[in-house]
Amino acid sequence: TSKTQAKTIHKESWGSRVGLILAMAGNAVGLGNFLRFPVKAMQNGGGAFIIPYLVCFLLMGIPLLWIEWSMGRFGGKNGHHSTPFILDSMDRRKFWKYIGVFGIFTNIAVAAYYCYLESWTMAYVYHFLVGTFQELNQVEVASFFEKYVDLNTSTTGIPFEPIFFFLLCVVLNTWILSKGLSGGVEIASKIGMPLLIFFGAFLAYKGITLQAGKDGALYGGAVGLNFLWTPQFDSLANPKVWLAAAGQIFFTLSVGMGTIQCYASYVNSKQDIALNAMSAGWMNEFVEVVLGSAILIPISVGYLGIDKVVELTTSGGLGLGFRTMPFLFGQWGTVIGSFAGVAFFGLLFFAGITSSLAMGTPWMGFMQDEFKWKREKSAISFGLIVLILGLPTVFFFNEGVFDQYDYWAGEVSLVVFALLETILFAWVFGMDKGWKEITDGADIHIPGFYRLVIKWITPVLLLFVFIGSLIGPAN
Ligand code: PHE
Repeated sequence: TSKTQAKTIHKESWGSRVGLILAMAGNAVGLGNFLRFPVKAMQNGGGAFIIPYLVCFLLMGIPLLWIEWSMGRFGGKNGHHSTPFILDSMDRRKFWKYIGVFGIFTNIAVAAYYCYLESWTMAYVYHFLVGTFQELNQVEVASFFEKYVDLNTSTTGIPFEPIFFFLLCVVLNTWILSKGLSGGVEIASKIGMPLLIFFGAFLAYKGITLQAGKDGALYGGAVGLNFLWTPQFDSLANPKVWLAAAGQIFFTLSVGMGTIQCYASYVNSKQDIALNAMSAGWMNEFVEVVLGSAILIPISVGYLGIDKVVELTTSGGLGLGFRTMPFLFGQWGTVIGSFAGVAFFGLLFFAGITSSLAMGTPWMGFMQDEFKWKREKSAISFGLIVLILGLPTVFFFNEGVFDQYDYWAGEVSLVVFALLETILFAWVFGMDKGWKEITDGADIHIPGFYRLVIKWITPVLLLFVFIGSLIGPAN
């Protein structure tokens, strides 16, 4: 029958539970953990951010993780591995299938600008290895970035450098995806995640132990950390802070795109998801809250002071990461400074690639489910689309194309998709069946009040966030 045929063409699975959790954690841990989180916190008054952030994690992040994991395993039971078919399997109405198609587009649009960003990290590792930054002063290091992204003045080394590294990055992603789940994505996660933790631990150690007066630092590492970590309860009354916190929870957990469903659709139908989802989710929070707050802010504040760092991050964390950090690492001398640079951009690279691979899986699954394409063909088609959609961000970076992608695909679409999938799960599929899916085979006990949270609180919060995201990009 056609069903068994579909299964023989498309038979992938995770190699091990550890591999699955590392891949899921790799999906969540991304550039957002190191560049977006600390800056969002900074812009929202430092410690004012942390309480809404944790509340959003508990009432919106965790429920969405459970919803997406269980939807994925449910779809996988019926042989579906792409968002349109997974959503389709949950209700009779054809409408949901198209919502799934919308989810795939979101993935591709995010992948397009995300891979460009990821390619910068490769370029910076390269430039640290060849010592480009060693001779440059602070202004020159900052203008290196401007020169890099401007194709007219691209005099940073290799001709057409941003295009070169973008191509390299897309080819690498395509190649790993073509190797399949256990043979590609899982191996990349098993290599990338430990290295990321290792580099992160080194940089966090440097950040925390930064001392005023040593290596030219003005303040110790504790100044930045205290700023981020001193809770301010009056922030609970500020809607702007809530919106920013909710937006960060979305982006960092990679929910609202269908990537988690697609990864989870390869989980064995008897296997636990409740604990797996927690493990991957908390691993992401550990990396974000511990490593994410111990590197960028303590080091930059240590050298520049809080006011200056606030000023440098008004338009986001990328500038601080790519224009300022390479110079600050140089203050630690040639050897440690170069190692710190490789560690920082290497860490960003591993964080990035384990996320962009995840963005490829919904498309891969769809091509394989719907058109019975082979894995290699599916991977190449993904690479080509990312290339075509990504090139405008390369060519017109200075015209703000990148930021537009980030706002529409990386902010608004995620919330729309998450709201719709929560309605599908809790109200259409129904909480009785839904709860059974979440708790089936669970290795932990989930408190019963999460039934109410998923049915009422999560969708209401999502609705607020959606309205907020339309009023303006949350800062
Ligand atoms: N969570 C990733 C980050 O923090 C971004 C991402 C979003 C990855 C959506 C996959 C899907 O950078």
